[in-house]
Amino acid sequence: MNKKTVTLNYRSDGPALELPVLEGTEGPKAFDVTSVYRDTGMFTFDPGFMATASCRSAITFIDGEKGILRYRGYPIEQLAEQSTYLEVAYLLFYGDLPTAAQLEEFEYIIGHHTMINESLKMFYSGFRYNAHPMATMVGVVGSLSAFYHDSLNIHDPRHQEISAHRLIAKMPTIAAASYKRHKGEPFIYPNNSLSYTANFMNMMFATPCEEFEPDPVAAKALDLLFILHADHEQNASTSTVRIAGSSGANPFACIAAGIASLWGPAHGGANEAVLNMLNQIGDPSNVDKYIAKAKDKDDPFRLMGFGHRVYKNYDPRARIIRKVCHDVLENVADANNPLFELALKLEEIALKDDYFVEHRLYPNVDFYSGIIYQALGIPMNMFTVMFAIARTAGWVAHWMEMIGDSKQRIARPRQLYEGPPERQYVPLEKR
Ligand code: SDX
Repeated sequence: MNKKTVTLNYRSDGPALELPVLEGTEGPKAFDVTSVYRDTGMFTFDPGFMATASCRSAITFIDGEKGILRYRGYPIEQLAEQSTYLEVAYLLFYGDLPTAAQLEEFEYIIGHHTMINESLKMFYSGFRYNAHPMATMVGVVGSLSAFYHDSLNIHDPRHQEISAHRLIAKMPTIAAASYKRHKGEPFIYPNNSLSYTANFMNMMFATPCEEFEPDPVAAKALDLLFILHADHEQNASTSTVRIAGSSGANPFACIAAGIASLWGPAHGGANEAVLNMLNQIGDPSNVDKYIAKAKDKDDPFRLMGFGHRVYKNYDPRARIIRKVCHDVLENVADANNPLFELALKLEEIALKDDYFVEHRLYPNVDFYSGIIYQALGIPMNMFTVMFAIARTAGWVAHWMEMIGDSKQRIARPRQLYEGPPERQYVPLEKR
């Protein structure tokens, strides 16, 4: 096969550099720059990885120009319409849709890993009563490796699989316990007769004092939100999981690192930031003022839930979530939800504004999701926790793929040094 190459003229007086071109199934090709430092003594420079493919992956494909998102080749619109979160978790992890028997076995396995070690419950009492649930998530998930010494050989396929099962199964239990700790209510044990999301809602909202029946419409809406948040290529938190895993760290530590990265308002913390923003705007009459603030370079205010590093078109997930918003508000919560009306107004004005059009800023997955979570009775400080539960399926799939890559080596970027040149130490008395 003729090896495609490109020529890089990196200096006027020297020879040109021939770089191999790498081509995947779809999407942009890549220059292979692995030889550049060896051949030129120079680094490539790409802070924020705006134009860098950090790995080969077969899990998720995004086309930001066309607003396309596919998990293992299946369009997100079809999975949202016809699948379930656990089926999507199976697809992301094993690479193909399960047969009925495989899905039933997977659901049984996940259902039978939902409990956490009883002594972990004492871990929660160490947190201040009003600790942010994301803080407890990072701490508790990171501590899981202390309980599973039987499966920490990251090169043993069976250990990899059971760790992934445990993480997918236990995230809802750990999340609900974080919420109960915050509320000062007793923890509710998992109930294996319930679906994945109904079980989560039961652990969140049931109390020992009375029967609780998870609303099936709400459970279905939550399952759909989990599908939409399950994976998204090499986003910041997934790249964090991959980098942590590249050192050989155990999967629980890697997922804890991913949760920490997701927490930021520029990433998974945006759904909570959107609700704060909508409450700050308060009334549709203030929308123009806040749009102007978002456009003002001297104003740190940003339209949270808008813009994306990859999507320069409507985020396909946001389109689906906006419809779910309508359905949930019609069937579960009060239809005339003022925040939803405000969000629709904000979107309508922003999408007509030249600044947003020129910067190609559209609503992303976080713009409407918080409104649904709130309508389902989930408090704002749990919104990013919901994102973390869902994204665990993608994180463990990427962790597995990275570990399984025979060419994988520790991720260790270099830098463009701009610090002081060599200088001599000055004794204290002479400073
Ligand atoms: C997620 O990567 C993923 O896939 C993430 C995610 C996933 O599923 O894992 O999709 C989930 O994190 C979605 C994004 C959630 N974050 C937000 O909604 C926060 C608000 N959005 C931004 O801060 C921003 O758009 C980012 C962080 C999402 C993207 O940042 P980039 O690609 O680095 O773009 P940028 O910050 O350089 O902005 C480009 C321009 C700038 O203007 P110029 O200086 O070039 O003139 O657009 C402007 C920015 O000022 N801009 C905004 C804006 N987002 C970008 N201006 C106003 N409001 C905004 N929201």
